[in-house]
Amino acid sequence: MREGDQPRNRVRFAFEDRLDCPVGTVRHPAGDSVPERESTRRVPEENALDVPVHDDAAADHWAYCRRVEFREILRRRRMVRAYRPDEVPRDVLEKIVATIRRAPSAGFSQGQRFVVVTEADLKREVARVVGEDFYVGEGFAPWISGAAALVVVCAREADYHERYQQPDKTDAAGTEIEWPVPYWHVDAGKAAMLVLLAAVDAGLAAGVFGMPVERMAGVRDLLELPDDVAIVEVITLGYAAEDTASDRLSSRGTRPRKPLDELVRWERWS
Ligand SMILES: Cc1cc2nc3c(=O)[nH]c(=O)nc-3n(C[C@H](O)[C@H](O)[C@H](O)COP(=O)(O)O)c2cc1C
Repeated sequence: MREGDQPRNRVRFAFEDRLDCPVGTVRHPAGDSVPERESTRRVPEENALDVPVHDDAAADHWAYCRRVEFREILRRRRMVRAYRPDEVPRDVLEKIVATIRRAPSAGFSQGQRFVVVTEADLKREVARVVGEDFYVGEGFAPWISGAAALVVVCAREADYHERYQQPDKTDAAGTEIEWPVPYWHVDAGKAAMLVLLAAVDAGLAAGVFGMPVERMAGVRDLLELPDDVAIVEVITLGYAAEDTASDRLSSRGTRPRKPLDELVRWERWS
């Protein structure tokens, strides 16, 4: 169904429109005119009790039946390590990084943090600290200093402990859970994935690099990160340039994609 054909009470799923904009009331397609959000008080301590939340779409299961461009975005997503020198408008970057608010997180702890670097000098400094010069000397493009923006993906672990010390998350003795995995890193990865997809949606290319431990302190200093915020990875954004050298030599260029049945098991492992 084309957008114009939709009945008036069928509000489109926000993800199809713009990734950053506040999501208005979502109504059920059956014509129920009761705003879903106003009747939802599932997590009162998180929201301001009776105040309707206008910033969030209620689960709209009907929306999942509609065709979206996700498949195309996913098909185009790949690491690009060379960019044209063109500036990316600030509002485009803002929309991309605003996706952080759509990221899921354990207990809605929202420990994800981004530091967006667009100043040329600062990008060059980051590039210097992580050793870009070596690769440029080897004939690669200036992946980091040449990006329009660096999105430094960070995690604040303390958000998770603070959240899981709240009464609805502690056990009878008031004790925080034993963390099975460090979800602050996992959730930072989920936020990063949104940035990678939003970048493609905005016509940009993106890359990701991790930071060797010994270079971490230098970057932390440059960005003036507080002690309780950890760097997880860095996303580079820009308009794609020719990237043949790294396409050929990157991990993706030098090894096959694993077969699906090695990665996905059904019902049981064996
Ligand atoms: C956490 C993380 C760290 C990465 N670090 C680097 C890196 O330091 N250098 C690099 O060239 N690619 C890096 N990559 C990109 C991967 O090599 C790339 O995702 C993989 O080869 C698959 O290619 P594709 O993303 O284009 O499909 C990193 C990716 C992730 C998720």
